[in-house]
Amino acid sequence: MQIKLERGALPQLSVDVLLLVAPDDRFPAEWTALDELLQHQLFQLWRAAELAPKELPLLFSFDRIPSKKILLAKMKTHNGESSLRLLYAKAARKIRTEKLGTSVALTLPGLRSSTAELEEAIEGFCQGSYLPELYKTETKHPPIEELWISTTATDLGMTLEKAVRIAKSQEFARNLVNEPANKVTPSYLLEEAHRLADAYASELEILTFAEAEKRGMGAFCAVARGSDQSAFLVRLHHAGSGKDRRLFLIGKGLTFDSGGLSLKPWESMVPMKSDMAGAATVLGAFQALAQLRPDLDFTVITPLTENLPSGKSFKPGDILQALNGKTIEVRSTDAEGRLILADSLCWATELGATHIVDLATLTGSCIVALGYETVGLFGNSTEWNQRICQAAEKVEERVWAMPMFAEYKELNNSEIADIANSAGKAGAPAGAIAAAFFLKEFVKDGVLWAHLDIAGPAFLNKPDRGYAVGATGIMVRTLVQLGLEF
Ligand code: BES
Ligand code: MN
Ligand code: ZN
Repeated sequence: MQIKLERGALPQLSVDVLLLVAPDDRFPAEWTALDELLQHQLFQLWRAAELAPKELPLLFSFDRIPSKKILLAKMKTHNGESSLRLLYAKAARKIRTEKLGTSVALTLPGLRSSTAELEEAIEGFCQGSYLPELYKTETKHPPIEELWISTTATDLGMTLEKAVRIAKSQEFARNLVNEPANKVTPSYLLEEAHRLADAYASELEILTFAEAEKRGMGAFCAVARGSDQSAFLVRLHHAGSGKDRRLFLIGKGLTFDSGGLSLKPWESMVPMKSDMAGAATVLGAFQALAQLRPDLDFTVITPLTENLPSGKSFKPGDILQALNGKTIEVRSTDAEGRLILADSLCWATELGATHIVDLATLTGSCIVALGYETVGLFGNSTEWNQRICQAAEKVEERVWAMPMFAEYKELNNSEIADIANSAGKAGAPAGAIAAAFFLKEFVKDGVLWAHLDIAGPAFLNKPDRGYAVGATGIMVRTLVQLGLEF
């Protein structure tokens, strides 16, 4: 999709759909000329419609103006839905799914600063116009090709570029997650990391299975052992200034999670190509941050592997040793995410991380707790948690801090080893918190660490908030915001 600023007046624009967002308490003065040409139907529609955001009414121009259709969205300025981003997402989704056209123009409604509105419009529009139809042999819903943004404001060029880069990075992450596991293998994601390293002159370190084993990353290797695909741990370092604070973004890269020998029932396995959403998110954030803040020194780490049953698979009861020397009793081979993250967290610690955010589709339990709307936040620092919450709030992604009371630590008690990788029985309480406490054991004291369990919001089983079914690219925007402010 091409996105361009347009200085022309509304009535002269020639597109398939004019997308008009208006506040619900005043009819915009800038629309008067257009309304005249449309014989005041626009005003009447605006006044008459008790518009819920999902019932965006459509007006046909019947050649009274060059544009064919007008889609009206009313913004609830006093109560109700007040998110401009969401409104644009829903409108874009309607245009795409109902095939209203392939060229769209919108104007900034003047409810907030024009830079904020431009960012929200572009990010929202891209969020909503995306469909996961990667493998349709016949186009079902033609993609929107042109988006014109009509504004009289000047100096918006930089903001446009920023918003487009963030939206493209989120889309990049969504595509990686929607791609099937027979395409997105660990080697495929490694190639993506290569491409990013080349494009942004960044350092790439790759640990193969053999190298990981030699270093003592026994938790990662146990998971990787059962698969015939080559597994890797990847470190992507973007060198910048200010090296006394070192930000690490770590993403779970399980390209397919069958559960291993603790095999999942077939229905639970269906969405498990999405178990690398954490990796996709940190790669997406890397791309945007390298573009937008080339001076920021930060590192992305992602452990890449499958979790499959085979004659080489690790087994319930096995004892593993992680890079920091801690021993782990395996109770479920399906609690594999925390194992590959354990060695990644140790590695980040070794490399001198001061601030860590890890992202993982880690537990079904987090979906039980928070559903598909909200990302669970866990951490060892109230301040660092707050920074993440603030960044998320700014870009309108939902994050909620979960309790880390010391009492929960015993959920991972083992009689035989330092720690167990799960309770070992179905439906055990506080599964998402137990997983977070497991990870915490692999982070050195004093390092600010936050863990985002994205199991619910990363991959939807039905459309929601302007997102299509499937991958959302959730948390790309939050990580970028966090990096921009770091
Ligand atoms: N990848 C899954 C978590 C998951 C479940 C993500 C559903 C998205 C949707 C993870 O590896 C897993 O299997 N977790 C287990 C842990 C249990 C064995 C302690 C779970 O949540 O059931
Ligand atoms: Mn699993
Ligand atoms: Zn998993």
